[in-house]
Parts: sequence; C-alpha cells; structure tokens
Amino acid sequence: MKKILFVTSEAHPLIKTGGLADVCGSLPKALAELDQDIRLIIPNYQALKSTESVRFLFSLRVDNRNINILETRLPDSQVVVWLVDYPTFYNYPGNPYVDETGEPWANNAERFALFCRVVVEVAMDRGYQDWKPDVVHCNDWQCGLVPALLSLEQDRPATLFTIHNMAYQGLFPVSEVALLNLPGQLWHPEGLEFHSKLSFIKGGLVYSDYITTVSPTYATEIQTAEYGYGLEGLLEHRKESLGGIINGIDLDQWDPETDAYLTHNFSITTLDQKRLNKKELQTRFSLPINENVPLFGLIGRLVEQKGIDLILECLPEMLSMSVQFVLLGSGDKDFEKLVQKLAQEYPDKMAIKIGYDESLAHLIEAGSDIFLMPSRFEPCGLNQMYSQRYGTIPIVRKTGGLADTVIDTLPDTLLNNTASGIVFNEASASSLLESIKRALVLYSIPSSWKKMQITGMKKDFSWQKSAEQYLALYDSL
Ligand code: ADP
Ligand code: GLC
Repeated sequence: MKKILFVTSEAHPLIKTGGLADVCGSLPKALAELDQDIRLIIPNYQALKSTESVRFLFSLRVDNRNINILETRLPDSQVVVWLVDYPTFYNYPGNPYVDETGEPWANNAERFALFCRVVVEVAMDRGYQDWKPDVVHCNDWQCGLVPALLSLEQDRPATLFTIHNMAYQGLFPVSEVALLNLPGQLWHPEGLEFHSKLSFIKGGLVYSDYITTVSPTYATEIQTAEYGYGLEGLLEHRKESLGGIINGIDLDQWDPETDAYLTHNFSITTLDQKRLNKKELQTRFSLPINENVPLFGLIGRLVEQKGIDLILECLPEMLSMSVQFVLLGSGDKDFEKLVQKLAQEYPDKMAIKIGYDESLAHLIEAGSDIFLMPSRFEPCGLNQMYSQRYGTIPIVRKTGGLADTVIDTLPDTLLNNTASGIVFNEASASSLLESIKRALVLYSIPSSWKKMQITGMKKDFSWQKSAEQYLALYDSL
C-alpha cells in the first residue's frame, strides 16, 4: 500500500472551475478503491463546499504565519482531505484564482507559494502526524513549487507533477520573487526563472521525479513549439521522464442510468428515453419543442483554447440549416457578448446561458444529439467522454485527448462498431462546418446514428485502468 499526498487547487465537489476539479475529485477515489492510503490537500477557500464534518488536526508555523490543517473527507468517499486554513489568503468569495471581474487575485503568487510551502511541511511530516507520504502527486502550476522546494530536502518523498494545461504557467513579475522568500538556489534559468519571470510550472517540470500529462497525444504535442508555450525544449529534454495517462470519468456522477440531475434516466436498453431529456432541454431554453430537429450542445470555458472563434464563424451558416444550438459557458467577455448577440438574432434556433450551472451541464449532455468541441488544443477534455456515455455524438478536432478518445465515423469504423464521433484535423471554420454537415447526414440515417450512440455508450471510460497506470508509476519512482 502506497502513502500518497495528492496536491491540488480544486477538487469536485468541494470546489470546481473546470476539468482539473473533476479529475482531482475522482482519481483519488479510484486510488482509494485500489486500497491506497491517499490524502488530498487543498486550500480552505471560503467557497469550498464541504458536506462532511470538519475537525482541527494540527498547526504549523510556515513563513512566519500560523497555519491550521483541518481534516474532512471527500463527500461520498473514504478519501481524507486536509484543508490548508489561512483565512488571510483563502477566505475570499467565489473563484479560487480570479475576482468577479475575471482579474487574477492580486496576491496569487503569495497565496499559492504559501500553499506549496505548507504542502512541503506536511510531506516531511513536520506536523508530527506519523504519516509521511511515499509520493507527492502535484497538479498544475498552483502546486509547482512543491517539487522544487522538496528537491532541497533530505530523505524526501518522490514527486510526480501532472500537467493539465500548458497554457497556464503561473508566471509572475520578478518583483514578486522577493516577497516569496524562495531559496536562492532555485532562482536561475534552469530553475524557476523563465525569461526573467518567476514560473511556478517550471518548479514541477524541472524538479519533479516524473512528469505526466492527461493524454498520450498531448504528451507528444507539448514537446513542440505549437503546444509547448516556450517550454517545449525543457519537456523534450525530460522526455524519458514524461508520459501521458488518459483521464477517466467519474461514473458515480456521469452515468445516464443513475445521474441524479436527470428526471429521465436512460441506458442502452432504454435509449428512447433520451428524447424526454431533449424535450426538457428545449423547454428549459425556450426553444421550439421538436423531437426531430438535430440539437447541438456546448458546455465550457469560453476561451480561445476551446475553438469558440471557429464556432462563431460557422454559426450563421449552421443556423441557416434546420438545427438548434444550446450553449452553457462563461469566460472571455468578448466571446460572451458575441454569443449573446447571435442568440438574440436566432431566438428559435440558438439559446445560451452565461454562467456556471452543474445541473444544466448534465441536462445538456443528456438532451443534446451532438456535442461541439472543436478545441485548438485539449490536454484531455472530459465533455467528449461524458457525451459518448450519454449517447450524444461529439464533433472534435484531432488534438490531445480528443484524438485519443473519439473514433471518427468512416465506412470501415461504422462497419466494425468503433465509430463514436466526428473528428476533423484543421483548426478552421470550414473544416468544422464540413464536420457539422457530415454529422447532419449521419443524423438523417437513424440506424447508423443509433449504432454510433451505442458504441459510445459502451466504451469504458472508467478510472480503473488509468488509476492502475498511476499506481504502477508511483511504484517505479
Ligand atoms: P477544461 O478543464 O479545459 O475546462 P474539460 O473538458 O476537461 O475542460 O472539463 C470541463 C469541466 O467543467 C466539465 O465537467 C464541464 O462540464 C464543466 N464545465 C465547464 N463550464 C461549465 C459551466 N459553464 N457550467 C457547468 N459546468 C461547466
Ligand atoms: C485541463 C484541460 C482539459 C483536461 C482537464 C483535466 O483543464 O484543459 O483538457 O481535461 O485539465 O485534466
């Protein structure tokens, strides 16, 4: 049995801004089910929703500050959660990273540097809990300083750093560095320095014993200039210690047969019930109730990564056809305004909700016929897997985890029952539009459509296999 300290800045259902939370809420559960002794550590944000009881565990003095460690559990699981309680830094409302206007909190460098320092103290058992992990598993830039600081310790646990997104690196002006009081030996171009800035992610990429990312294809892509954001050289240099492990999905949350957010549950054998969800979705969005019109869905952060600009370019032509489109998301204010404007122009065909809505996200997966995910890059992506599980055909660009989890519909893949979506190569509006048309042709042939739905619904996206891969990796470190 391994002792694993799992470090993250978000975990569903405690706090979530995106897929990182889905993964960090479900991978620890899967590891616990494999009998591992896993503890999750996360800042105690004001917005954190804990339904389990919380108790004081111990105190630490870190960087001249008094920190309390509180203990709770991940809801509906045996996973122990340690909350890093320091109200001066974490007792803010809302999002862990940005304020209500979308601006990063001004003291993010200090907030996450302190979090990392506390994790190091816990990892070295300086709180005297008689629990020292074998492995510290860090996720994304917010945890990047952990492997760097641990590298300076004697008799330290092994470190693994998982990249969920290379586009977010935790870069801060050099003026911040003094405030953080970091050990001088980490500050050089082969260390935490990146073009005279402090790079949190480099702490993970340079100093961890092993690096993973969330799909095999993305592990290769990030070694190229197009996807590496200036760190491709470093990643190439570390390629012997870099691998891709595909994310799973949490079937306790995302299974159409048991999904608690749905009024009309369904499975492969009751697939015709899916149309009741479509009706409910049309009602919720005040679109004409029509069982036959192909209904497209999209859920996500409205940012360039997700190819929202490609969709905006396609929409006028797409909406000239007999289709409906529902969108749930928030992000870039310009994108938000543009989709709002289009929804006003086509009130019978397009409806949107700007904001974050967990329950509506489930209904969109269940009620849509087709899910749009034309990402410019996608480290893994979860919604294309949720879609397949819910009999909703995803249209994806061939990149990262989308390439690894969706099989394009072609005569041979349809024949051998592997086709479960539409895949296109080029990040252009015309390629996306061609795929949309291809989907519409397939939608008009019910026997083929149903075959694709069933293929997708049968696919094994559970965490089991990936959790075993992580475990084998922990063993090897
Ligand atoms: P990313 O992490 O890059 O945002 P993923 O596909 O990995 O993309 O995961 C996104 C997760 O966040 C999914 O669970 C998705 O349903 C959820 N999500 C994104 N935007 C919203 C929203 N506006 N409302 C509800 N859920 C959302
Ligand atoms: C990131 C990526 C997304 C991935 C998620 C969980 O947010 O953008 O592709 O699915 O992390 O690993």
